[in-house]
Amino acid sequence: MIDIFDKCATDEGYFGRFRAAKDRFFTLPVLDDIPGPRMNCQGKETIMWSVNNYIGLAGDADIQEAAIQAARTWSVSGPMGSRMMSGTTQDHLNLEKALAAYSQKEDAFLFNYGYMGVLGIVTSLCGPDDVLIVDKLAHACIVDAAFSAKGGQGGRPMVRFFRHNDMADLESVLKSVNKTRKGGVMILCEGVYGMTGDLADLPGITALARRYEARVFIDDAHGIGVMGTQGRGTADFFGVQNDIDIYFGTFAKAFASIGGYSASSEQVRDWIAFNSRTQVFAKALPMIYVKALQLTLEKIIAGNDRRALMWERSRRLREKLSALGLHIGPGESPICAVFIPAGEHLEEIIMRVLTYLRQNGVFCTGVMWPVIPPGLVMLRMIPTAAHSEADVDETAEIFQSMRDELKIKFALNEEEIAKVRKIYRG
Ligand SMILES: Cc1ncc(COP(=O)(O)O)c(C=O)c1O
Repeated sequence: MIDIFDKCATDEGYFGRFRAAKDRFFTLPVLDDIPGPRMNCQGKETIMWSVNNYIGLAGDADIQEAAIQAARTWSVSGPMGSRMMSGTTQDHLNLEKALAAYSQKEDAFLFNYGYMGVLGIVTSLCGPDDVLIVDKLAHACIVDAAFSAKGGQGGRPMVRFFRHNDMADLESVLKSVNKTRKGGVMILCEGVYGMTGDLADLPGITALARRYEARVFIDDAHGIGVMGTQGRGTADFFGVQNDIDIYFGTFAKAFASIGGYSASSEQVRDWIAFNSRTQVFAKALPMIYVKALQLTLEKIIAGNDRRALMWERSRRLREKLSALGLHIGPGESPICAVFIPAGEHLEEIIMRVLTYLRQNGVFCTGVMWPVIPPGLVMLRMIPTAAHSEADVDETAEIFQSMRDELKIKFALNEEEIAKVRKIYRG
């Protein structure tokens, strides 16, 4: 008889070989300290390029104090219960109003996690006759949400993908969907693509949505607090916020907290509030976060100097690494996607690179096939306002010594450059 747990004794599943080998270096590394530019990784101080503390609010003393005050009043318990029953407070409502005003929408609704928010929104709105059109590089929560939606009759909406940021492909999907359309159509994408660092073509997407009568949902996890006026996000950056039907932001990145929110018309907000199972059947966002987030939002709005510093650090990192011969993805957002050729030796190169960097004081995230085409390693680096010039310079020096000591080739050949281009244009 097969036991449900049989698979746990194999090296299958995500990162299965690492799990089977009890790895805690490449996967699930223990990082102590509050998130910041230098963090202790298994006993070694590293310059941290892997946390989304974009404008340096993690560990902010005023926000910490607001959370402490909230804990004094509400402890860790308040409020108890789901928003629907006993978990709504005036503070939750006030925060929603403030977020709606910030995002220039009629109303907003809070979620406990970004992932749960996207899942709740999409599954509450989309039923069997609807079609969800998803950018191929969209975050797992968007993909999971699209495939989890089912509606009342148990049928599922159709899910179609379009090539990453490819407007011609999106248009052809919209055209074909409209030929047999029985329900609504929604396009789902990120604002800033968190892995590759490029921006969604929101002017193109919103124009096509208008032409083919589709709705637009953007998950701007990496754009909120980072892009646009007062950090209002990627749609504001492009001047198309009015054309976004549901704007979604998480607090896990620039807000350096936990939770997320959708901003939309009041009617859509109410539908979501009453129908999102991930929130209707879950305890409300704890008061410690709600109270702290009110102050965080003020700091985000007033954060132009912090954003300028973040861009400056991003520019410097890009310049220094490019000077070493490294190929970096487009600088549309602060995220630096650094590409290293790996040929046939993908796993060997990624492990040598990450080991060298971590052991010599640089922590970043490594990505390879199937997330990106084979033959390339991508190091995703997140410059923040908390990094100093010295952090950037020291990092570049460590990359240089890695190149020289490990004899790793940095320059990409034509074919590899074409592969990188393919990532960005789908
Ligand atoms: C684009 C995107 N959406 C959603 C999430 C999930 O957000 P949270 O961590 O708040 O659940 C992430 C986090 O990795 C993300 O990058």
